[in-house]
Amino acid sequence: MTDIPVKKVMIDTDPGVDDAIAILMALRFSSFQVLGLTTVGGNVPLARGTRNALALLEYAGRTEIPVSRGSALPIRGQYGYSFPVHGASGLTRRLPNPSSRPIDQRAVDFLAGELGKQPGEILLIALGPLTNLANLLTRYPGSLEQASGLVVMGGAVDVPGNVTGHAEFNFYSDPEAAKMVLSSGVPLTLIDLAASRQVAIDRQAARELKPRNNLGGLAAQLLNNWFRRDPGRQRFFFHDPLAMAAAFDSTIVNTQNVQVAVETADPVRLGESRISGRPGLVGVVRQVDQDGFFRLFDDLMSPDQGAIQGHG
Ligand code: RIB
Ligand code: CA
Repeated sequence: MTDIPVKKVMIDTDPGVDDAIAILMALRFSSFQVLGLTTVGGNVPLARGTRNALALLEYAGRTEIPVSRGSALPIRGQYGYSFPVHGASGLTRRLPNPSSRPIDQRAVDFLAGELGKQPGEILLIALGPLTNLANLLTRYPGSLEQASGLVVMGGAVDVPGNVTGHAEFNFYSDPEAAKMVLSSGVPLTLIDLAASRQVAIDRQAARELKPRNNLGGLAAQLLNNWFRRDPGRQRFFFHDPLAMAAAFDSTIVNTQNVQVAVETADPVRLGESRISGRPGLVGVVRQVDQDGFFRLFDDLMSPDQGAIQGHG
């Protein structure tokens, strides 16, 4: 069997149920070498998200992966959190209190250090508000460019948002950071709501999941408990898992390279994202291979065997 090249990744995250499923997928991708998680406030306060990240890694037996704390506050104001969606703890299944601790080094320094040690080698995947990446741009000019690639879940490019009619949660949580990253000149792939709304699971399908490994079992529990929390819930959108799947196999998405503007002034349109020019360095996902995504999601449920093949 041909060797699949190892892909070194770092994940910036605000776990969050869909973040957790994305992280579990990353841990199952045997060609992924997860060098670290950096946490950011967003779905839940930083301390809770950091605890969730540590607890997930401990549950998976992967405490060798360092977790570094990022920002508890956006560049301006404070995070609104997303307790109605993700619950007070941020996860829909209680995990044992982690015995591991985050590393002392804070996220921006950790990211700059790792990217600087291995320039052009590390794929950065951002699943929460972009505060840590914006702070990296400010404090370590040139560092973000050292990533081999950048995949971002965020925005609602010229489509309705999910927090306001205009804005998606990650961009709404820190519009200044989103504006800085998207105008930084660093090429990136943007999985926005127009893309992630194409991959969802309904209550019945979640019930019918047949996980055959412990990580898939946890993902299934997180999903089914999410539906149990509110009988009115129809579909769970795989926002962050789609970003993770696209990071693993870029062939499951088609992108259009444009310039994207983020609204940071108008209080009504705060966090809105719109195409502001062509061409550009933001690869907005325009088409999603849904079957391709669900093949990778189904692999999360498969028995522990063989490497999940990637295409890069
Ligand atoms: O709008 C969806 C995004 O906001 C996802 O990353 C979800 O985890 C929340 O952070
Ligand atoms: Ca997230």
